[in-house]
Amino acid sequence: MSLHLLDHPLLQHKLSLLRDKETSVKTFREVVTEMTTLMCYEATRDLALEPGEVETPVGIAKTNRLAGKKLAVIPILRAGLGMVDGVLSLIPSAKVGHVGLYRDPESLEPVEYYSKLPKDIANRKVIVLDPMLATGGSASATIDLLKGYGCQQIRLMCILAAPEGVQRIQADHPDVEIYVAAVDEKLNDHGYIVPGLGDAGDRIFGTK
Ligand code: PRP
Ligand code: URA
Repeated sequence: MSLHLLDHPLLQHKLSLLRDKETSVKTFREVVTEMTTLMCYEATRDLALEPGEVETPVGIAKTNRLAGKKLAVIPILRAGLGMVDGVLSLIPSAKVGHVGLYRDPESLEPVEYYSKLPKDIANRKVIVLDPMLATGGSASATIDLLKGYGCQQIRLMCILAAPEGVQRIQADHPDVEIYVAAVDEKLNDHGYIVPGLGDAGDRIFGTK
């Protein structure tokens, strides 16, 4: 199953706040972080563990710690930046790479303008972060780029998706697990998710 719909009541409640056009920039940003933390808990549910031991004040306890190299998170600039702290609050040692893309307003095709990735990215599990999966062009191009660097274990975490975006990722990258809090009805003629929450970047950074 590549699509994981995370519909925990806390996520549904918080998503209602994001959808509300009256929600302030400050609250919007805070809620994006909170939702990302909750979603990260689910998206990391099957991480491998390695057994060990630790001395407690009372005796020896068997332990399980995360095995192997830690994660890398890749926010798609700019709205994906709003999700980074939510992951780092749970996995503070994760590496952070950046991919800069914007959607051409006419063609809706992604245009890459920046990328800076951890050197050992090929050996890490990767979670791509972007609040919005609309046509899926930006996420698909980012995953193409990561695969070009040798990444093999890639997950995509978005707060809100359109059916078109989910289908695009499933077609282009059937190996990628997708985590979303909701899949909305459709895209409008401008490639916006309906009913959606508007322009996530503008709402996180207060640019409109
Ligand atoms: C938004 C969003 C995604 C992209 C989704 O970014 O954050 O990156 O659109 O659309 P797609 O699935 O059709 O590619 P935008 O291009 O508005 O850039 P911004 O984050 O800098 O505002
Ligand atoms: N990007 C956004 O920020 N919102 C949408 O609805 C679609 C793409």
